[in-house]
Formats: sequence, structure tokens, C-alpha cells
Amino acid sequence: MKYEASFDVFKHQNKFIRTRKKFPALVGGYGSGKTVALCLKALLELGRNPNKTILLAEPVYPMVRDVLQPTLEKCLKDVGFNYRYKAGEVMYDISWTGGGGKIILRSAENWRRWAGLNLAGFGIDEACLLKDDSAWRMGISRLRDGHHLTGFTASTPEGFNWHYNYWVGDKKNDYELIQAKSSDNKFLPQEFIDSLYENYDERLILAYLHGQYVNLQHGQTYYGFKREKNVQEVQYNPHLPLHIGMDFNIEPITAVLFQTYNDKPMVRVFDEFQIYHSGKNELLTETLAKQIKERYEKLDLMGKPVLRGAYICYPDPSGKNRHTSAYYSDHDILRKEGFDVRVPRRSPLVIDSVNAVNKAMDFTIIDPKCKNLIKDLEQVVNKEGTRDIDKTNKDLTHLSDGFRYAINYLYPIRKPRATSIMA
Ligand SMILES: Nc1ncnc2c1ncn2[C@@H]1O[C@H](COP(=O)(O)OP(=O)(O)OP(=O)(O)O)[C@@H](O)[C@H]1O
Ligand SMILES: [Mg+2]
Repeated sequence: MKYEASFDVFKHQNKFIRTRKKFPALVGGYGSGKTVALCLKALLELGRNPNKTILLAEPVYPMVRDVLQPTLEKCLKDVGFNYRYKAGEVMYDISWTGGGGKIILRSAENWRRWAGLNLAGFGIDEACLLKDDSAWRMGISRLRDGHHLTGFTASTPEGFNWHYNYWVGDKKNDYELIQAKSSDNKFLPQEFIDSLYENYDERLILAYLHGQYVNLQHGQTYYGFKREKNVQEVQYNPHLPLHIGMDFNIEPITAVLFQTYNDKPMVRVFDEFQIYHSGKNELLTETLAKQIKERYEKLDLMGKPVLRGAYICYPDPSGKNRHTSAYYSDHDILRKEGFDVRVPRRSPLVIDSVNAVNKAMDFTIIDPKCKNLIKDLEQVVNKEGTRDIDKTNKDLTHLSDGFRYAINYLYPIRKPRATSIMA
């Protein structure tokens, strides 16, 4: 095909694009050229299956629009193919001298809607983010029309999950794994690599830079926490605002209290609350807010209580919905109590917020009296084979969830975009 001459691909990309194995996966570090390889592979597979259809997917639709579509269009231009985009069908009608075919773009989250398609091939970008193999199996069941039927994935590894089992753990003959490091993309700027080192802990560096499957799902969720390092006496400073990570449940409702500094340790956790119903018909959220203000009263010079800017809380993002048992939402109640409520516009992915807490363990200390938070950080585990938090033990996860909302708000980990740096 024409692009052999006009586009220099890296070795790992070339191997993935050209393999004749039915089910290849390109697993690589951030920015290693996975999405480009996925799009080029789709074009090469169209060459092997003239006038047929290939589906390309991202885990969720916003990624289709923000990542897949621009990458595919850039690849089409680079290789000099003609195309017409049909927005209604999210489809590219592609033609080149002597041939053509269709590429349709979909989200893997909505894999059920793939039913009824007749495909020659399908490719899933960032497939390791999917919680199970449903989309993969659906894709395979739609391979019905072509000379070289194929399914392929390109992804940053997310530990020993379903993807690992297919391509390593229980690998079958027609599966092939190709691995790459971020640095295998010779054009990645050093600042991109540096920012990854700044953002991620050692274990995630192995996964997100070196493209290795490492243990992210078995055992301790907050593996960055070390009692020897992170548990130290903390002095409460009455002149600084209180930051409060909160988690609402039917009960208990919990809060983790900390203060922030510019120098390390930047996060200093000094107290925790865990309250249950007293048996009266009370609003737990209101009771908690009142208890916090009572224990940590802020006074101005005249000795009058101060509210403004004194209590900053980071509640469960889902608490903006009205509570079934109350007239006001939990967030409304907190505001009425004078708390400054900070919630992200979009609920964060659990994976991202857990990564943020693990990284924050480099600059956090926790007072030994916060026994329940410490217990959580040591004992909360992932659901077997996933990066979801195991919530079966009702005594665990509340305090660490509240702390996670706060840390993710204040110290989020943003994956740098190789494309925007290189554009
Ligand atoms: N063979 C290549 N030659 C030149 N530039 C390339 C090549 N492959 C990829 N790139 C460029 O490198 C950058 C990263 O590529 P791409 O988005 O495919 O990587 P990725 O591994 O999917 O990244 P992410 O981890 O962010 O999803 C893009 O700007 C892309 O255009
Ligand atoms: Mg990508």
C-alpha cells in the first residue's frame, strides 16, 4: 500500500500493523504510538479486506471524539488516502488508488450496540481500561465478512486483568503480544517523559512508561501507604483552613481532616470522624458538620466564630443528588452549615483517584490517632482481577474514600497528552 513509502513507522508499530496473527495486541507506555498504530492497522486490514468494514473503538465516546477521530484523520492524510466522513453513522468512507472500505467508530462501553454488524475486523484502543472482556467477545462474534478476519487491541497495561489473561496468562495460539516503551517513540519530547516520572509512583512507571504488566489489582489498593513512613504525629494549626474529605453512606458517615502546606509533608492529616445514628431522627450530614465545627472552632480576633474559608470539604461527588430520606441534598446541608463544598464537574475514574492517593503518599503524614483511616489504607483491597475497590467488608473503605475524593481534587494526576505536546 502507498503508505509504506510515505510514513515511517516504529519497529513495534510495524510488527503490530503487519502481523498476520488473528488477534494481536500492542501493549505500550504512554505516548509510544499505540493509537497511531491502531489506526494504521485498520487501514492495512482494509487493504486485506477490500470494500469491507472495520470497527475501531475507544472505551467511552468522549475518547472517540477527542483521541480516535483526530488520530485517524491525521493518519489518513499522512498516507494520502481519500475519505468522506459521515457524521450520522460516525463512519469514514475511505478510498485509495485501486481500493477502499469503511471504518466505523464506536465506544466499547456500548458493546451491546455492535450486535448486527458484519465486520472484517475490529480494534479497541485502551482495551485494558475495560472492566471485562464483553466488548472483545462481542467484536469476535461480529467477524463475519472478509478475507482476513481479525481483532486487535492497543493499550497501556492496567495490571493483571482480563487483557493480561487473554494475551499472557491463558494465551492461545492465534493471540500475539507486542510490547513497547514510551521511549520507543523517538520523537517524544523529554519533558513528556519527565512529567510522567513526576506524576506516577514506581509501580505505575513500570506500567505507564515501560509498558509492563505489573500487579495493580491484587492486594492492597493503596500500596503507596507505608506505616513507617506515613504515620507521624501531626500538629493542628488553628490559623490554617481545615480540609475535609467526606464519604456519605446510610451509616457511618465519615470525615478525614487535614491541612495543606507548600513544603513536604504537604498533606498533614490530624483527625478523623466516623459517626452513626444515635437512634433519633437526625440528619447525619448536619450532625457531622456541627461536630467538626465544635471540635475545631474557628474564631476571629473578637472571639466570634468564623466560617468563611475555614472549612473546605470534598464530599462524595454523587452527594449532589437529593438524599432519599431528606429534603436537602448532602451538599446543600454542608453549604447551609457554612462549609465550602468542592466537587469535580465529572466524577473521576476510580483508577485515576487511586493513583493520585498512592502518589500523595510521597508527601502525606497521618497522625496515629486516625486509626480507621490507617486501617483502611492498609487493608482495603481490590476486587479480584480488577482495579475496582472491594467494598464487601462494610467496616472498611469509608474513610479512605473520603480522603481519595479530597486528594484527587487537590492533587489530581493528569496524564500528559503526547499529541498536544507534539502537535
Ligand atoms: N511512527 C511515528 N512517527 C512519527 N510520529 C509518531 C509516530 N507514531 C506516533 N507518532 C506521534 O507520537 C504521538 C503519540 O502517538 P499516539 O497518540 O499514537 O501514542 P499513544 O501511545 O496512543 O499515546 P497515549 O498513551 O497518550 O494514548 C502523536 O503525536 C503521534 O502523532
Ligand atoms: Mg493513545
